[in-house]
Amino acid sequence: MNLELKRFITGIPKAELHIHLEGSLEPELMFELAARNRLELPYRSAAQVREAYRFRDLQSFLDIYYQGMSVLVGEEDFRDLTLTYLERAHADNVRHAEMFFDPQAHTGRGVPMETVIRGIQAAREEAERRTGISTRLILCFLRHLSPEQALATLEEALPFRDAITGVGLDSSELGNPPERFAGVFGRARALGFRLVAHAGEEGPPGYIRQALDLAGAERIDHGVRCIEDPGLVERLRRERVPLTVCPLSNVRLRVFDSMADHDLKRLMELGLLVTVNSDDPAYFGGYINDNLLAATEALGLGREDIATLARNSFQAAFLGPKERERRLEELDRFVSDFSREV
Ligand code: ADE
Ligand code: ZN
Repeated sequence: MNLELKRFITGIPKAELHIHLEGSLEPELMFELAARNRLELPYRSAAQVREAYRFRDLQSFLDIYYQGMSVLVGEEDFRDLTLTYLERAHADNVRHAEMFFDPQAHTGRGVPMETVIRGIQAAREEAERRTGISTRLILCFLRHLSPEQALATLEEALPFRDAITGVGLDSSELGNPPERFAGVFGRARALGFRLVAHAGEEGPPGYIRQALDLAGAERIDHGVRCIEDPGLVERLRRERVPLTVCPLSNVRLRVFDSMADHDLKRLMELGLLVTVNSDDPAYFGGYINDNLLAATEALGLGREDIATLARNSFQAAFLGPKERERRLEELDRFVSDFSREV
């Protein structure tokens, strides 16, 4: 790729809207936290951990992902995890990050909700103070567990209502359609939470329709399988429903055979509000700029496409009008300064 385009991609101000904090746990930090908590890992080195990251599908990843996060025990662990991610994102010129967390994967092994959220909050404050990065937190329900457990988790999080902007839905998609969670999403909406859901990653387009119509999702995480349903594509375009697409994740989890087969560019050409994100960067071989670079290389994206993706990321973010305007102005300034220089 030409150096100028590379510099444009890395330097452009952007928002990340689809990142699982637990999926940013790099093997080196995993070992550090295991030592801190006197836990044994089934691996001898960070390199050996990375060796194990060969996935067949979403489930084969999730099995390793839930095992990896068992080193997160105390408030400091959640703080270190979050701060490490936010500093790494800042290095990629991420100005705003909306971060998922999976509380049930922690409370289910005896870590209190309070520990998780207090640790994350400490890091958010420190990162914003150090770098100016703004953040939102989105609580995800694990869809392989029951709707009753999701509802209990929502109630458990209410003492920390102010820390949490929205709720989402993740984990094993096939066989766990959004309609199962319509009730808890309705309750979350009544409480003023913003709503997002993973849909159309491995699941069929019908799951995206359910996420919109039955769960009330405002944004679809992944959503790449919408392309199989032209009527749905037209609706997503008309209603400007954002898709938070994660190219490296989709290739690693075999949603697409290769990056050249990814439908990101087709979705953009169809006029959808697409964003590029890292999903679980420690597991899928890269952060947001790595995703943009890999997609650009394989799909032949240009500077205009990158500017559109960055603009979309701020348009799709849960930002207030003033903050959105400020971020978009900074983006426009970057684009016009860059054109003047080259
Ligand atoms: N949890 C973490 N990453 C996920 C993904 N890509 N899909 C569903 N659940 C997840
Ligand atoms: Zn995800």
